[in-house]
Amino acid sequence: MTPRSRPRRSRALTMNKWMTLQIGGAEEKRMERRGWMIVAIVICLIVNSSGRELKVEVKHTHHHRHHHHMATYNHTLARILVEYASAVYLSDLTELFTWTCSRCNHLTKGFEIIDLIIDVKRCLQAFVGVAKDLNAIVIAFRGTQESSIQNWVEDLYWKQLDIDYPGIDNAMVHHGFYSAYYNTTLQPGVVNAVEKAMDLYGKIDIIVTGHSMGGAIAGFCGLDLSLALGEQNVQVMTFGQPRIGNAAFASYYSQVVPNTIRVTNGHDIVPHLPPYYHYFPQKTYHHFPREVWLYSIGFGSFSYAVEKVCDNSGEDPTCSRSVAGNSIPDHMTYYGVQMGCETSGTCKIIMDPRISAFVRKDLDGNLVLSRVPFAPDLKLITELADQGSAL
Ligand SMILES: *[C@@H]1O[C@H](CO)[C@@H](O)[C@H](O)[C@H]1NC(C)=O
Ligand SMILES: *[C@@H]1O[C@H](CO)[C@@H](O)[C@H](O)[C@H]1NC(C)=O
Repeated sequence: MTPRSRPRRSRALTMNKWMTLQIGGAEEKRMERRGWMIVAIVICLIVNSSGRELKVEVKHTHHHRHHHHMATYNHTLARILVEYASAVYLSDLTELFTWTCSRCNHLTKGFEIIDLIIDVKRCLQAFVGVAKDLNAIVIAFRGTQESSIQNWVEDLYWKQLDIDYPGIDNAMVHHGFYSAYYNTTLQPGVVNAVEKAMDLYGKIDIIVTGHSMGGAIAGFCGLDLSLALGEQNVQVMTFGQPRIGNAAFASYYSQVVPNTIRVTNGHDIVPHLPPYYHYFPQKTYHHFPREVWLYSIGFGSFSYAVEKVCDNSGEDPTCSRSVAGNSIPDHMTYYGVQMGCETSGTCKIIMDPRISAFVRKDLDGNLVLSRVPFAPDLKLITELADQGSAL
């Protein structure tokens, strides 16, 4: 065991009282029943898995030695990125493509979309563009469009770690989140757009963001791009994302994409899901670091906002895990910015015929709205932008 891994494990054994706060009623009862039987098994698991985790760390340290600076939280940047994560929910593709949407005209003004990528069948959406003020390529993924966020959240309780993360010993992830990125039009679409952006702007920074399920997808994208691009700075910031993998995966992830901030808000339920069972520290879901927890102290006009930068474990018991994850409203607003779609329900696409020159459709009906390599008709784009939401 390295000195680094020891405190984490011993803390996991003594976390019972925090976990009791965190988990919901049903889980709590179930765990109460099985609790004592499991303790013995857990000790075996911990002893067993320590060696394996160490192996993961050693194996990848050499490939990513340039990455060893940890993420530092930047409030200004978070305020900007949350607006991108909010905008990508909108379904009017004309307004997004021309960056004239109602959520596009504040801190993200002047953003230049390279590609807008829509997986029509699965109702997934992402954009890749260049933010000149950040000197960065920004990639944002939309969260779920399901008619009931309540249903989606309830389903999260039962998500299994049901697929091995390829090439990494013992690393497991949730198949649905994994394949939403890797097995859809998103992955090739994003990689292609990033290449085009780099052709135009050089090797500038890459920032990946998303809210809720969009945050889960952003995590996989950040990992994918970090592995593909090596030396280039890839940064990930997510808002209210669920857990996506187990401890071995989180450990691997944090080696490859150390520049990651995972923002959680108050009692937002989603970061508590799928549940983390402290009896199985290596076998259940485990967040990757680094969490920044937003909460408020006091009440009424005497309350003020706190932004707590959490420890490097991914599961800091003094951050969002110190409270019950029981709020959907806390999930829907980050930094005062509305997340989610304007109207819940149908997965719709709104598009003005005048941008059809920029649209490519694949055999499955998926869309890419692309500024490049189609001859960028800047006049048309400018005209559309001028007309703005009147379209
Ligand atoms: C935080 O981010 C903003 C926006 O990118 C940048 O202008 C500022 O310099 C950053 N602050 C620090 C301390 O890095
Ligand atoms: C990818 O998608 C195809 C068709 O949608 C499916 O048959 C296949 O099992 C999926 N693979 C993974 C790894 O999800």
